[in-house]
Amino acid sequence: MSPEELLDTARQAAARAYAPYSRFAVGAALLTAGGRVVSGCNVENASYGLSNCAERTAVFAMVAGDADERVIDAVAVASPNAAPCFPCGACRQVLHEFGCRHVFVEEDGGVRIHRLADLLPYAFGPDDLQP
Ligand code: THU
Repeated sequence: MSPEELLDTARQAAARAYAPYSRFAVGAALLTAGGRVVSGCNVENASYGLSNCAERTAVFAMVAGDADERVIDAVAVASPNAAPCFPCGACRQVLHEFGCRHVFVEEDGGVRIHRLADLLPYAFGPDDLQP
């Protein structure tokens, strides 16, 4: 799947956002190392702090959907409200947990590719817990 196609999948996921409070819809689409595509949208709550970002919805769906194939190659993030729409800090950390290397965002009508390592430098991750 191309970066453009992954971003388009993220756009489609954003159309399913449950964001009645912020009215800021976000969609995310993950491409796993094995070629699986998993998408998610933000899901808000009347108790605002319980809201979940699109990226984490997608990561949790990826984990729940397959116990063996959990390495993320890239994530695409899209919002009809903002371009580019970057993952928040918490989502960068969760993406790092599963090895995500690339972040695709919309820019000037096209796709801009960033390295997650550039968006989350000196990240703390699973390797840091090894003795
Ligand atoms: N949001 C995401 O889903 N992903 C991001 O990368 C940034 C923010 C959501 C959370 C909340 O539902 C809304 O956007 C406004 O912050």
